[in-house]
Amino acid sequence: MVVKKKVILDCDPGHDDALAIVLACAAEELDLLGITTVAGNQTVDKTTRNALRVLALIGEEVPVACGAERPLICELVTAPEVHGETGLDGAELPEPAFGPREKHAVEFLICTIRSSPEPVTLIPTGPLTNVALALRLAPDIAERIERIVLMGGAAREANATPAAEFNIYVDPEAARIVFTSGIPITMVGLDVTNRALLTPEEIEGLARGGPVRRTFARLLRFYATANERLLGIGGAPLHDPLAVAAVIDPAVLVTEPLYVEVELCGEHTRGATVVDLYRVSGRSPNVDVALDLDLRRFKELVFWALERVDRRG
Ligand code: BDR
Ligand code: CA
Repeated sequence: MVVKKKVILDCDPGHDDALAIVLACAAEELDLLGITTVAGNQTVDKTTRNALRVLALIGEEVPVACGAERPLICELVTAPEVHGETGLDGAELPEPAFGPREKHAVEFLICTIRSSPEPVTLIPTGPLTNVALALRLAPDIAERIERIVLMGGAAREANATPAAEFNIYVDPEAARIVFTSGIPITMVGLDVTNRALLTPEEIEGLARGGPVRRTFARLLRFYATANERLLGIGGAPLHDPLAVAAVIDPAVLVTEPLYVEVELCGEHTRGATVVDLYRVSGRSPNVDVALDLDLRRFKELVFWALERVDRRG
């Protein structure tokens, strides 16, 4: 019998978050306890609605809790240029089949982690606001979190500013709280996620599949076009699904334990993850940093998940 890993996905859908939801729902290895939403790619009302619409598309009923509407300290920055005005432009999705829980995402995280019989793995794929607030409000949950496998940051790359990746840039103070929490962390950053690319041909291949795959083909066309226009990336970088895949099958990543700091005050580098790649600081590693990936294995998982939800529909 497969022992399912208990996970919570904290996300800001977002095209790649949407596919992360599909992967988390489809994987037999995971017991998805809930989805919490946060402001990031769009405002939190939109990211929550998008999470619910993706669940309606794939016919899943997972608890959804709506979270922080802005970062801890700074103003919210969203990414309509990448994800559109709805946060999930490019395809018509069904209306939500149910509403979000009454509980705030932070309360949901705390209660779910405290009441879980086994430690929980958190998979944040948006700004870390909810996770940081939960750790501040209920520090006792830290020892019940097995690991945080987050999409964010980078050792060598950036996308929101010349120095910073979007999720960390949106709420660097929250990221600092999470990175200094002492909880085991895997950082799935742009060094690997920019290589987790679905090619235009693979996206067109989805258009020949069932209804879920056809919807994702439309979504990913929009997302790939935006990535090409803004960053010169030829295809759809599946940032967030790679974090989920790493929990399903850790062999999709090669990681190294390294010392990482989140830059808060740099004049030009706020939100950067400063990774001690050459171990010159003398500081003990605090993060397992993803530096390489098994692209074939990752894509097999993504295609398998999409086919699976299509077959169920
Ligand atoms: C991250 O930023 C968002 O736009 C994506 O959803 C992903 O989580 C990539 O930098
Ligand atoms: Ca995201």
